[in-house]
Amino acid sequence: MSLVLGIETSCDETAASVVEDGRRILSNVVASQVAVHAPYGGVVPELASRHHLETMGPVLEAAMRESGVAFPALEAVAVTQGPGLVGSLLVGVQAAKAIALVHRKPLVPVHHVAGHVQAAFLAGGKVPLPAVALVVSGGHTSLYAVPEEGEYRRLGRTRDDAAGEAFDKVAKLLGLGYPGGPVIDRLAEGADDRAVEFTIARLKDGSADFSFSGIKTAVLLHVRRQGIAPVADRERVPAAVRDLLASFQRAVVASLVRGLARAAEVERPRSLIVTGGVAANSCLHREAERAGRELGLPVFIPPPELTTDNAAMIAAAGFVAARRGVRADLSLDADPHLQLG
Ligand code: KG4
Ligand code: ZN
Repeated sequence: MSLVLGIETSCDETAASVVEDGRRILSNVVASQVAVHAPYGGVVPELASRHHLETMGPVLEAAMRESGVAFPALEAVAVTQGPGLVGSLLVGVQAAKAIALVHRKPLVPVHHVAGHVQAAFLAGGKVPLPAVALVVSGGHTSLYAVPEEGEYRRLGRTRDDAAGEAFDKVAKLLGLGYPGGPVIDRLAEGADDRAVEFTIARLKDGSADFSFSGIKTAVLLHVRRQGIAPVADRERVPAAVRDLLASFQRAVVASLVRGLARAAEVERPRSLIVTGGVAANSCLHREAERAGRELGLPVFIPPPELTTDNAAMIAAAGFVAARRGVRADLSLDADPHLQLG
């Protein structure tokens, strides 16, 4: 039995978790800062690091208490080294180092996106490998080949905005608050997703990269041209706005799923993984499942509490990394631009 403590503070969630053998979650504590950043329509880095400092201690204590595991029983301490906001990452890295030092445990650095991919293995069920993984969140939109657990080869990424960022910006433009994804998902349900013709063209160089800044501008132009005002009452959203949101969502999802399907045709994997905060999107669920059926591949989409930022995924990725001999010493530093694959 191997118990790993995971710590995650790369963005606006302070999280700690204990996971057994990289599979069984004994505790998964997440303190979200959504309410702190909502008034600003996005994450404010200075506020984020200050809140991580305040909540890291209590979150760690809760994760250890709920797991019923004592520090000496841990095999390793895994922490998100990057990418993310440097001030936020530092809080988690320092906490992990302190625990590793005091309790003489190996320190295992984890790439945040490796954590998102590993979430698929935490959700139960066996994921046949090799897989192709689409990681789609507020900070990332990337495709990876996963030949085996702990191995990643990047196939494509966004050249500009992440897909979640596009959801958040469109929601902000229409006065729908932050984060935008869940609101747009809800309002788009039952609306006419063909009302506005948005298309996201494939990049001309034939790469597997994505681009979402163009559609954001297209939505802005449409709003100006049609004289659409920001929503005043979120309980009574006009049909024209709901149709616009559904059309926007359909175009973003089509681009994501097209990228995933193309990567699958090239890589010939045995399964598909869709993970990251945007993986909670109902339209993306439907379309990814449909693509999987057409390709004859099972699709693994973890539940929302494991697709959004959490530390169980970091503990699970840390378990795999530790098995592969990954270790850091106490000179470990946060790396906001850490690369994977
Ligand atoms: O993984 P995550 O919690 O944090 C990052 O690492 O970014 O993802 C947050 C992102 C936000 O942009 C949010 O708007 C988006 O995920 N999101 C959604 C949905 N739920 C969350 N986007 C579309 N549809 C959803 N249902
Ligand atoms: Zn994330």
